[in-house]
Amino acid sequence: MRVGVLTGGGDCPGLNAVIRAVVRKGVAEYGFEFVGFLDGWKGPLENLTTPLGVDQVRGILPRGGTILKSSRTNPFKIDGGVERIKDNLAANGVDALVAIGGEDTLGVAARLHAEHGVQVVGVPKTIDNDLGATDVTFGFDTAVSIATEAIDRLHSTAESHDRVMVCEVMGRHTGWIALQSGLAGGADVVLIPEQPLSVERCCELIGRRHARGKDFSIVVVSEGWPLTFDEETTGEVVGSADTDAFGHVRLGGIGERLGGEIERHTGFETRVTVLGHIQRGGSPTAHDRVLATRFGVVADRLLTEGGWGRMAALRGGAFTDVPMADAVAELKSVPAELYAEASGFFG
Ligand code: F6P
Repeated sequence: MRVGVLTGGGDCPGLNAVIRAVVRKGVAEYGFEFVGFLDGWKGPLENLTTPLGVDQVRGILPRGGTILKSSRTNPFKIDGGVERIKDNLAANGVDALVAIGGEDTLGVAARLHAEHGVQVVGVPKTIDNDLGATDVTFGFDTAVSIATEAIDRLHSTAESHDRVMVCEVMGRHTGWIALQSGLAGGADVVLIPEQPLSVERCCELIGRRHARGKDFSIVVVSEGWPLTFDEETTGEVVGSADTDAFGHVRLGGIGERLGGEIERHTGFETRVTVLGHIQRGGSPTAHDRVLATRFGVVADRLLTEGGWGRMAALRGGAFTDVPMADAVAELKSVPAELYAEASGFFG
């Protein structure tokens, strides 16, 4: 079997580990041949290919990013996009595809399979950890580790200067990174999109610390937290007006807005750090390398079984596979009980 591999959407530590596992296991155990498609769905759309064999995947396990590059191309938004993909797969003698991506990339893969019969299997990735149907995605552990280290570092400088430090982390729709890094780093307030605690409540918690003689505070906020006040929820998610091919606005900037509000409400000097793409770059943690490798092994199994339209998943600690459509049907949000438990440590 000749297999095409692509990585789509925002990059994520562990993508190379998946590619390596799929190729090494696929060649050694099943005798597959591989071809890489570059730049996500743009690859099969525009016939951008690269050789992909054991030689190409040597040494890439610990490397961040993706040797196949990535983009947020949506073939369903392009006239004749699906036909072009099918033609280019045929021209390359490709029997099946492995699509490694998040809700958008896998959403395209699920439709290509269901509506156009493309033989595709999926591997779930996102640092945001918001894909349904799998307990966790690779890249998340790395992002949480990076954010936790940043929070640890912010603690010492916050304490030296008696300041409030706002740390803005990624998390477009969900607050997984904020909540886990906030818990691990001992943040004093964590603000997430699913449970929009108000600015006033956040300031009350900071004030409570000051009343106890703690003159510094750490506030972790997800980029997707809507600016929320007691009287009215503005619902305003801060970002630029630009949207990508999947209709997502580019988020970022809520930290500055929140920092200004905290200073105005409390009078405490406040500084803001935006972690941004640092959370996505660099080497994956050992946990993510193993998770990515094992997802790659499941993807190869799906190829041998003709498990088209399905993706690798971790469910209740076991490696398995599920329909891709399930993963993209509903986002996995932070449960209210988990946030309630974490908020016991606020203030
Ligand atoms: O989808 C994951 C994510 O990391 C989001 O948290 C973030 O909003 C987005 O990617 C930013 O991606 P980019 O800057 O590549 O468009």
